[in-house]
Amino acid sequence: MPIEDVFVGGAGLMGHGIAQVFAASGRRVVLYEPELARAEAGRDRIAGNLQRAVDKGRLDAAEREATLARIAPSADPADAAAAGLVVEAIFEDVDVKRRFWSDLDGRAPGDAIFASNTSSISIDTLAAAVGEGRRGRFVGMHFFSPVPVMPLVELVRGGTTTDATAETVRALSADLGKQVIVSADRPGFIVNRMLMPFLAEAMRAYEEGIGSAEDIDAGARIGLNHPMGPLALADFIGLDVCKGIMDVLHEGFGEDRFAPPRVLVELVEAGHLGQKTGRGFHDYGKGA
Ligand code: CAA
Repeated sequence: MPIEDVFVGGAGLMGHGIAQVFAASGRRVVLYEPELARAEAGRDRIAGNLQRAVDKGRLDAAEREATLARIAPSADPADAAAAGLVVEAIFEDVDVKRRFWSDLDGRAPGDAIFASNTSSISIDTLAAAVGEGRRGRFVGMHFFSPVPVMPLVELVRGGTTTDATAETVRALSADLGKQVIVSADRPGFIVNRMLMPFLAEAMRAYEEGIGSAEDIDAGARIGLNHPMGPLALADFIGLDVCKGIMDVLHEGFGEDRFAPPRVLVELVEAGHLGQKTGRGFHDYGKGA
């Protein structure tokens, strides 16, 4: 059965981008947040992204309208009743995610695929929140930010994920224009296992006063040809999100090299979470 209806849980940085790419591919999308205003704000962000594409001449205005018309903001989990796929992109907290999945298990059709966009939490741990009959259709589908731009999906197979589920998610990702890599269900999967130690090392270099934030970032941008320096990238991802992933790696592997650096912990405790609050390793001149 082709998947035409997608329920996206979470309308934040990742969720709104995920909803955008599914809607752009012609699918109907319910964009869910417990508060309707947040779901609507996610749709507004998508409207802004699509308008930029129209302004650049990459999308025509009618296609923008058609894509937006396929996105229904919702605060009612019962709107998952027609979903062939549920994608969860909510806060990286294992209990919050498990509550979401256990609730959705009773609301989505029995044959719907459940895909978590978790960036590091074990798929098996999340799959344990749904009934046994669903676990074969539980999988990790990890997108990268900005979702409409980054052409990768990391497909994470849990111990119970069936071949058919993995194949469906692979085909669906290809249909969204994404290339797929397959990861085993290990902390951080493939990409964050590589990325987070890199970001943490840049943070430690900053903490030790080896260079300014600007010079550390310029080193990676100009000397390594990275599109963003590591401190700017951490600010872009969200410092709370980075800390959460580093905590999962640290706990999962039990090795101090994965621990979040002190400067990161301090920034998060002070509420400086990067671009979204206006301040992180760099100052964005807005917000808190
Ligand atoms: N949403 C949609 N489109 C966006 C966008 C957004 N938030 N930000 C930029 N774009 C688009 C622009 O419209 C532009 O499109 P066109 O070229 O078609 O006109 C294109 O991206 C390039 O944008 P800009 O010219 O404005 O800016 P740039 O060249 O500096 O690129 C960037 C911006 C794509 C974000 C680039 O800096 C980059 O690739 N950075 C690294 C991003 C990265 O590493 N992401 C992975 C983070 S890790 C993660 O997500 C997973 C995790 O678990 C933590």
